[in-house]
Amino acid sequence: MMTKQRILTGHRPTGPRHIGHLVGTLETWAGLQDTHECFFLVADLHVLTTNYHPEHLQDNVRNMLADWLAAGIDPNRSTIVLQSVIPEHAQLSLLFGMLTTVARLERVPTYKDQMRELNLQPSTGLLTYPVLQTADILVYKAQVVPVGEDQLPHIELAHEIARRFNQTFGDIFPEPEALLSNAPRLPGVDNRTMHTSYGNAIYLKDSPEETTRKVMNMYTDPTRLRATDPGHVEGNPVFTLLDVFHSNRTELKEIKSRYEAGKIGDVEVKQLLAESLNYYLAPLRERRTSYYAQPSLLMEILYSGTSHARAIARATLEEVHEKMGLMHDRALNEKVRIQQPNGAFC
Ligand code: TRP
Repeated sequence: MMTKQRILTGHRPTGPRHIGHLVGTLETWAGLQDTHECFFLVADLHVLTTNYHPEHLQDNVRNMLADWLAAGIDPNRSTIVLQSVIPEHAQLSLLFGMLTTVARLERVPTYKDQMRELNLQPSTGLLTYPVLQTADILVYKAQVVPVGEDQLPHIELAHEIARRFNQTFGDIFPEPEALLSNAPRLPGVDNRTMHTSYGNAIYLKDSPEETTRKVMNMYTDPTRLRATDPGHVEGNPVFTLLDVFHSNRTELKEIKSRYEAGKIGDVEVKQLLAESLNYYLAPLRERRTSYYAQPSLLMEILYSGTSHARAIARATLEEVHEKMGLMHDRALNEKVRIQQPNGAFC
């Protein structure tokens, strides 16, 4: 039997997931569980590169996890990892930092964009963001990294670091490849890309009423003043979302031609979208509400995934220490341990 390729991917826990995450990412991840050994990372350290809100971080993790599980991420088949609990992520990131020049990191497009947008002095944490991401991937020796296009430069760096390590110290890492999702980015209610920070998102956790309210306020075709004017379907976010969420293709085709002929009003089309969305999301919302209401179950899932992951991460670090000529990590670990108040060692 062929062994399955290993995948690692993840999100920063910035809060609840929206319908753009669902169709762009989460549904793809859920499907990949059939063909790959999957690790899904809750990248809580990465959140700290741009903002710190200690009072929100844990609830954001809880919201994101409830959404992941509701969307079909299955802890019985996949490993869900909480990054900050596994010190090996940070350790490997530090060691990879020794193989990476500052100039190389300053050329990473996401970093350059952020420098332009956020009017701030960058922390070394922000500069080394993609080095930590590389450690996330390679600490599990993952071969495949499903990501959106914006993350490609980071996977390219991971590839380079793996290669440099292998050439310098001996071949232990796969050179990971990005797996680009072909799902289109969804428009938000204002027709810009749906994004939490734009305030234009429809969330999985929104109630049906909240969803309907957002949809009824959506941007449509700005050239159309009356319901009898011929309307545009192309570039109209209401129709872009209907294309994704309305299951009756024949009916949708007919509605589009009525819209183009000025025979159906915006209100009616929006009502249809609200219904389709609420229908599509109903079972998922039920699961997400139930997960969110069980914080101890969520913690159990998180910690059982994380302890499985930790053993793999530990083994990688031992190998890395040995290759890099550091004191063998295992020996070190046995001699230098922390004694707990109850006498146990950890
Ligand atoms: N940078 C990713 C994002 O913002 C999150 C992430 C952290 C990640 N570590 C990763 C993605 C490792 C893939 C692999 O979406």
